Amino acid sequence: MNKLTTALLTGAAALAFTASAQAEPDGEAIYNQACMACHMTGAAGAPIKGDEAAWAPRLEKGMDVMYEHSIEGFQAMPARGGHPNLSDEEVKAAVDFMLEPVL
Ligand code: HEC
Repeated sequence: MNKLTTALLTGAAALAFTASAQAEPDGEAIYNQACMACHMTGAAGAPIKGDEAAWAPRLEKGMDVMYEHSIEGFQAMPARGGHPNLSDEEVKAAVDFMLEPVL
């Protein structure tokens, strides 16, 4: 590999890194970190990811309410899944990831 190729590849890698750093929040990673403990097991009565019957009546309230209840909390559902460090965008990305199979 000559020097020019190496320089080009390094530049491309740096660009790719910049692009991923600015990309949308990773809903799957956030779900795994902040939501899975309850929404995979049904702990505390949480609707399980992918369980259409459990989600159908909730989805009728609309996605805006799903986002709002995830951010502000709803009954046994803690605000931001108990992770106050998550931004609104990060919580919404996790909601999108969690609800994607039942939408
Ligand atoms: C400590 C357990 C717990 C964690 C962690 C948790 N949830 Fe929940 N979640 C619940 C429970 C319990 C409910 C059901 C609340 C009810 O209907 O009484 C719920 C309900 C919901 C609902 C439906 C709300 C509605 O109006 O019907 C959404 C959307 C949701 N959670 C999203 C999330 C997201 C996104 C995360 C991660 C950022 C998360 N939850 C983390 C326990 C949890």
